[in-house]
Amino acid sequence: MNLTLKIWRQDGPRARGELVTYQVNDISPDMSFLEMLDVLNERLNAEGTEPVAFDSDCREGICGMCGLMISGDAHGPEKTTTCQLHMRSFKDGETITIEPWRADAFPIIRDLVVDRSAFDRIIQAGGFISVNTGSAPDANATPVPKPKADRAFMAAECIGCGACVAACPNAAAMLFMGAKITHLGELPQGQPERAMRVQAMVAQHDQEGFGGCTNIGECSAACPKGIPMDVISQLNHDLRRAGSGKF
Ligand code: SF4
Ligand code: FES
Repeated sequence: MNLTLKIWRQDGPRARGELVTYQVNDISPDMSFLEMLDVLNERLNAEGTEPVAFDSDCREGICGMCGLMISGDAHGPEKTTTCQLHMRSFKDGETITIEPWRADAFPIIRDLVVDRSAFDRIIQAGGFISVNTGSAPDANATPVPKPKADRAFMAAECIGCGACVAACPNAAAMLFMGAKITHLGELPQGQPERAMRVQAMVAQHDQEGFGGCTNIGECSAACPKGIPMDVISQLNHDLRRAGSGKF
């Protein structure tokens, strides 16, 4: 495949960025999107040009590092992560625009790399359960009903990639936060801190500069893990209950 790439290049957080056009040829349809970028970077390196900075780690769809806005879609045209997207999803001769996530709360560090530490601070605010140190409790000591376990597992699939924020016209992180709140809120271990959790996480979310949810649904449509919108309902439900002291 021969492709034209329009890639966002930006030297640093305060530098002025622009789309730069590159041609890549002889790309196998079986390459992943990141392997295609590796091919470009190897060439740029050989030419003595600064390679394109982008994030990746596991390249298996589990770490959440690799988000890119690909021709206007978070993670591209398939419902998967950028690292699991393959070039067969594109047409020979196609022009592909590649940009970083666009959100005030995810400032650009360089080229396609953004700072997603706002997510870490939301988790630090309340996305955890406190446990005593000591030996691990018996796995069967705390029974969890199957429907609740299934829902907790579903929500726990969130990999914190940030596609939901990038896709949302309000740059809200409600799907991410709703997934964490649902994950812990369905489990017995998550109950003691449930009220504190939702209040602290929402306060941190707003402080970071994420927008509010207006039920557009782009977040769930872009989510590579298929996290449903109803986790946001659960978040709002928990927030109302916490505010009225019903926990
Ligand atoms: S909810 Fe989905 S899109 Fe948002 S951070 Fe989690 S995995 Fe990524
Ligand atoms: S590199 Fe880990 S999810 Fe893509």
